[in-house]
Amino acid sequence: MTQDSHTTRKILVTSALPYANGPIHLGHLVEYIQTDIWVRFQKMRNHECYYVCADDAHGTPIMLRARQEGIEPEELINKTHTEHSADFADFLIEFDNYYTTHSDENKEIASTIYKRLKADGHIDVRTVRQAYDPEANMFLPDRFVKGTCPKCGADDQYGDNCEACGATYSPTELKNPKSAVSGATPIEKDSEQFFFKLGDFQNFLHEWLDAGHTQSEIANKQKEWFADGLQDWDISRNAPYWGFEIPDAPGKYFYVWMDAPMGYMASFKNLCNKKGIDFDAYWGKDSKAQVVHFIGKDIARFHTLFWPAVLHGAGFRTPSSVYCHGFLTVDGQKMSKSRGTFIMARTYLNNLNPEYLRYYYAAKLSSGVDDIDLNLEDFQQKVNSDLVGKYVNIASRASGFITKHFDGKLLSPLHDKAYMNSVHDTKNLTAEAFENREYAKAIREIMKHADNINQYFDDKKPWLLAKDENKLAELQEVCSRTLHGFYMLSILLAPILPATCTKVARELFGLDRNFIWDDLESFPQTINKFKPLMTRIEQEQTKKMIEESRDNITSASAAPATGPLADDPIASEIEFDDFAKIDLRVARIVKAQHVEGADKLLQLTLDLGGETRNVFAGIKSAYNPEELQGKLTVMVANLKPRKMKFGLSEGMVLAAGPGGKDLWILNPDEGAQAGMKIK
Ligand code: MSP
Ligand code: ZN
Repeated sequence: MTQDSHTTRKILVTSALPYANGPIHLGHLVEYIQTDIWVRFQKMRNHECYYVCADDAHGTPIMLRARQEGIEPEELINKTHTEHSADFADFLIEFDNYYTTHSDENKEIASTIYKRLKADGHIDVRTVRQAYDPEANMFLPDRFVKGTCPKCGADDQYGDNCEACGATYSPTELKNPKSAVSGATPIEKDSEQFFFKLGDFQNFLHEWLDAGHTQSEIANKQKEWFADGLQDWDISRNAPYWGFEIPDAPGKYFYVWMDAPMGYMASFKNLCNKKGIDFDAYWGKDSKAQVVHFIGKDIARFHTLFWPAVLHGAGFRTPSSVYCHGFLTVDGQKMSKSRGTFIMARTYLNNLNPEYLRYYYAAKLSSGVDDIDLNLEDFQQKVNSDLVGKYVNIASRASGFITKHFDGKLLSPLHDKAYMNSVHDTKNLTAEAFENREYAKAIREIMKHADNINQYFDDKKPWLLAKDENKLAELQEVCSRTLHGFYMLSILLAPILPATCTKVARELFGLDRNFIWDDLESFPQTINKFKPLMTRIEQEQTKKMIEESRDNITSASAAPATGPLADDPIASEIEFDDFAKIDLRVARIVKAQHVEGADKLLQLTLDLGGETRNVFAGIKSAYNPEELQGKLTVMVANLKPRKMKFGLSEGMVLAAGPGGKDLWILNPDEGAQAGMKIK
């Protein structure tokens, strides 16, 4: 259905709040780009639309990460906030507010909601037995207990499920369990916890899921939880915990997933206070506004069961829509550090124009929950052929004739009935597709129009018309219609390519503002001299991006935002000769030191039996420099030196493990001599 662009809607839009303990990567960006395009479209249609987000700043991983880095959690989340904000801005993601869940507003909202739920009897207190680390003196979340799978015997599995056989269990069932925090064997300990009685909302949730607020496959999946009755949800954690203390419960904290979605409200509240917007008009029980959440399918349960129930129970309105998207794969596979496809936002930006990725994702996105694949060859080919070859090319081919022969004056194409019909259809179909999050379809419509315009231009051969004094009127008409087509394409593409389309609006067509959707109803009268708008992607650029992403593991390992990465399968077979090319040597670490400004790197001075090498190694999360000095290790001695931000790295040391704290450098027995070749 096409919404009439003249009835103004009130819409609050959110994307999921990224964790504050890791950098933004291309997987995250599927979501932020998807949301940003929708928001820009709504704003162009003159709706009162706000887009808010925040860092998800609480929880055990953030607490431990800060400890590891030897800083306070506040310092970590402030630093991450700055980095995330810059990444988003550079990808042209335009939030009305980008806040944090660690805010006064959020604390207040969490407390209000909790008190209302408690007053209405939706909170239960119960004693639970949990894994406890007797050395670190803390209760351990399931993900922080590791051990041998009780079902299949696979080593090094998490406390909640086995990645080898897929079994789910509780941490107490693991064999040979170890705390991932200290390595100690966990004990079991009782403590009181607070539970949100989700079962109280069973009927409400059933209706809510049937009412079309989320995709049907997501709704159906959630309904599977109803079969055995909805389980109560543990919303508290024991100190030490990084989060908000629960009112009247000293030493108890809200579980991060309790206050995280409230961060949507808190970020909006913060915006309301700054801008004088009426908060209740959006969140009050009788709100007529739309509240729209964009999320990944992995966090659907939090957004389509817990969150609506919590809001409903606390007397707030519930979301109008929870739109889920699928996961990103790169070249058909899960993002992988060793393949160089775990690409950080910043690494991409250092090599490529953000609008290319916005366009490519849009060309792949639908309203469904299927995973989307970034195929790097297809990416380059599609961007070059669609954006440079078809879109930008129109203006560069036609505008010269108009500026040269007609002083920039354009004629209206209104009398051309067939053309105006196609204009009418294209703009309606594209608007409908944007509204319904069918961006791939929108792009197909847009590119079909671009093809028609190019075809028309080719058929009319304006370069021949220009040579004939008597055909100048026709030349002006042909180029005007062509450039009207370009004008129209630029308005339709503006939600996807905001920077380029701003240039087109202001520089080429001389507007003193950006395009709005209603500009489709009018015709440009003049055009200025064309300046290049976009360049082709060269293969070198994507190659370099992959190489730099691979660098990240070997020398500057950046842990992913979630989970470790023991996900890489054994690499494909190589010939013995390939192996023989690698010169592995025993090296003695004569000096190890911190690197100013690097989160993950240690600078190692390695003795190769006479020769000294400088190597940057991404092992800071696992080692203090002092404990390394004097140790033997193994290095790749013939790796081509690599220039890094902090200096030249002349080789690589070998380490094993999923990353973070769990990383071990190889360590030959004493007796081996520095410089010895490994065979
Ligand atoms: N902090 C929670 C969300 C709290 S919302 C109240 C979280 N953070 S996250 O950083 O792990 O993910 C943020 C969003 O990015 C999620 O919607 C998640 O689904 C999405 N993605 C993270 N990795 C992704 C891919 N590889 N592909 C597509 N989306 C992905 O979850
Ligand atoms: Zn198993």
